[in-house]
Amino acid sequence: MSSVVAWRNIGELVTCDASHGTGPLGAVTDAAVVSVDGRIAWVGPSTQCPDADTTHDMDGCCVLPGFVDSHTHPIFGGDRSSEFAARMAGDTYEAGGIRATVAATRATSDEVLRERAAKLREEALGQGTTTLEAKSGYGLTVHDECRSLQAACSITSETTFLGAHVVPQEFAHNPDAYVSLVIGDMLEQSLPYAKWADVFCDRGAFDVDQARHILTACSARGLGLRLHANQLQPGPGVQLGVELKAASVDHCTYLSDEDLAALASSRTIATFVPGAEFSTRAPYPNIRRALDAGVTVALASDCNPGTSYTTSLPFAIALAVRDMGMTPAEAVWASTAGGAAALQRDDIGIIAPGARADLQSLAAANHIHLAYRPGVPLTTGVWVAGQRMR
Ligand code: NIG
Ligand code: FE
Repeated sequence: MSSVVAWRNIGELVTCDASHGTGPLGAVTDAAVVSVDGRIAWVGPSTQCPDADTTHDMDGCCVLPGFVDSHTHPIFGGDRSSEFAARMAGDTYEAGGIRATVAATRATSDEVLRERAAKLREEALGQGTTTLEAKSGYGLTVHDECRSLQAACSITSETTFLGAHVVPQEFAHNPDAYVSLVIGDMLEQSLPYAKWADVFCDRGAFDVDQARHILTACSARGLGLRLHANQLQPGPGVQLGVELKAASVDHCTYLSDEDLAALASSRTIATFVPGAEFSTRAPYPNIRRALDAGVTVALASDCNPGTSYTTSLPFAIALAVRDMGMTPAEAVWASTAGGAAALQRDDIGIIAPGARADLQSLAAANHIHLAYRPGVPLTTGVWVAGQRMR
């Protein structure tokens, strides 16, 4: 028996399908959506909505695809609120802060790591995120990276091996030995639990040669590639990502014209994480400049205890619109279809026949309210594969 679900009386339906409706968001007014067995089967005018087993009356509200958060670090122990407070009082963010969370994570049981990850997952879901990517990177031993990835697998299938987050304290005097460990035993044992590999290529973390070496080894073992690049200073990370055909280069706080040209002529997505600039007082990158150069852009939360302890994509959207030159439509696209592109997924981040029925409804008439009403919890309903989660 198939299960048919309908959402009707939608004031503004954001499809993120340019072949549908108007504008870059493919917006349709007075619309309805029908799913069959968790997949979108029909999109059209509300007055023509077919009968369904379950019908949700959206009462003129805005409905859009669930957010796709393509960059999070939700597997960690401890808390770095005092580091945040010190930064707000004038301290500068440096990659070395990661080591505090590494110590705390190593001391946290599997059970607690999973509980904490599940809480963040729930928190994200409540704000409309229906898919998230989750990285390891606070274990940095074979055992701790493996159990971090196992915890990540308990909340998502989009898991990322980030053994090369920073060189841990015990290898500080022999980083090459740590790189060998990452591409040796650590990669080997992490493989069953990872879909992606990521490297933090920046000041205080890994240089471009180390990053190339690690990512090439990970790719040879079948992992898709992502990169933390150009977060703390300009550098070669973005162009390395393009060279290696990474799915996404993330942060992109500092982008040169050459970086933009390389991105624009590639299939690599530039993922911006405004929460990190907010929380480190780094300058906001000019996303308008990237869009105008023809770069495909995603927005993500970067949820982590050091630089961006938020799961909120509405917050990222508000910052991107207020301070980074995006229109509300571009920011909504970047956090739905853009996030899906950064994960190389075509079944999510879009409301079109064949896609998974991952939807959210807002206590608002249109998507602009996501930026226009910052800090206000607008999410009224969340569905994953047609099933109501909130
Ligand atoms: O994405 N940049 C590297 N990794 C995280 C920060 C990690 C931390 O400080 O704990 C980020 O910003
Ligand atoms: Fe990150």
